[in-house]
Amino acid sequence: MPDAPKPCSGHTVSTSPAAFAGTPAKTSSAPLLTSPESRELVQTMRHQADAIMTGGNTLRRDNPALTVRSPHLPPKKQPWRMIVTRGDASNLPPDSQVFTDAHSHRTLVQPHGDLPAALQTLASHGCNTVLVEAGGKLTGALLDAGLADEVAIFYAPMLTGGPDAGFSQTLKNIPLTSQTFQRIGNDILLRATILKA
Ligand SMILES: NC(=O)c1ccc[n+]([C@@H]2O[C@H](COP(=O)([O-])OP(=O)(O)OC[C@H]3O[C@@H](n4cnc5c(N)ncnc54)[C@H](OP(=O)(O)O)[C@@H]3O)[C@@H](O)[C@H]2O)c1
Repeated sequence: MPDAPKPCSGHTVSTSPAAFAGTPAKTSSAPLLTSPESRELVQTMRHQADAIMTGGNTLRRDNPALTVRSPHLPPKKQPWRMIVTRGDASNLPPDSQVFTDAHSHRTLVQPHGDLPAALQTLASHGCNTVLVEAGGKLTGALLDAGLADEVAIFYAPMLTGGPDAGFSQTLKNIPLTSQTFQRIGNDILLRATILKA
């Protein structure tokens, strides 16, 4: 049996100088918020991960590829892609890239919003490291459920608001430890371990 998967939340965040962590809405027409250097680092994080997880809403809104595409990284099998929905696969657009591209056989769907089952399924596919690239709702749900081990938050020099600007409203205070702050291009990356009770 593989070890229990260790999800890590990759999370692009824009923030005010105060301690506010928000999830900017990202639509195909919206400008990219983070620097090319941060996006390259996210490519490295994808390359290091066995799987990338996102939620049904991000799939519907952004139609992300969730693949490693950087020419600077050595060739490797693409990570598994796990789409978590509170309904079932019929909730998700069948023409999404993850269902139609050359790696579609490496896309899994977890129905009924069952997050532990999603991680179990990934473990059964040999995945130990799961990178979560989701909006505030799914990320908040994983954090609330104690299913994330690390966060990586990119702070871009931009202020944003709107209904998607933040984690789920139920999110408890999550203490972080072993934090590092690094300047990446024009952004600040906070990486930290989640302190579990
Ligand atoms: N800043 C970033 O790095 C980043 C990364 C990805 C996405 N985004 C942005 O986030 C926005 C979408 O945010 P979001 O919060 O609505 O999307 P999200 O967190 O990615 O996904 C929420 C969806 O996850 C599914 N889900 C499954 N189990 C859940 C649970 N226990 N609790 C909550 N959701 C669960 C639901 O899909 P169903 O509706 O299918 O049931 C729900 O609609 C988009 O505009 C996207 O651009 C930002």
